[in-house]
Amino acid sequence: MFIPIQKSQNKVENYNRMVEALPYYINRKDPWYVTLANTSALIDYFLDTINWVGFYVWHHDRLYLGPFQGKPACTEIQLGRGVVGTSALQEKSLIVSDVSMFEGHISCDQETQSEIVLPIIVHGKLFAVLDIDSPKLNRFDTEDLQGLQKVLRVLIDNLS
Ligand code: SME
Repeated sequence: MFIPIQKSQNKVENYNRMVEALPYYINRKDPWYVTLANTSALIDYFLDTINWVGFYVWHHDRLYLGPFQGKPACTEIQLGRGVVGTSALQEKSLIVSDVSMFEGHISCDQETQSEIVLPIIVHGKLFAVLDIDSPKLNRFDTEDLQGLQKVLRVLIDNLS
């Protein structure tokens, strides 16, 4: 059963709405790519001023492009490379306010100016990385980080 989604003007409220809505759009019995696909679509719907949102999935010792919304992107990223690979290696979320200042940033879209990346650890192991890009400098802050951590908690609880 789906519930209708409706975007509000308030950023924190939008994260609350994502957390509330996500369980209706994902299902523990579904394959992981179904869950990641709907999660990326939900984030894309609720977030302002972004040009890309998606997942890089850990597979055969690399991060491979998973479900996403936006322009076609780099298909694989090595551990420790770019913002995505650094976040995965350190198992740490990263907010990059200006991608031109991040040594080794991988540019998939010239429009991207800032980025937020969160690792997804399942049963103590790296499973994937969530990456969100914005055409605006300094787009992401701790409210985004905390909101996205809550969304990922729901996602992780619904992975089979
Ligand atoms: N910019 C990322 C690569 C992924 S794309 O932005 C979709 C990075 O530096 O890791």
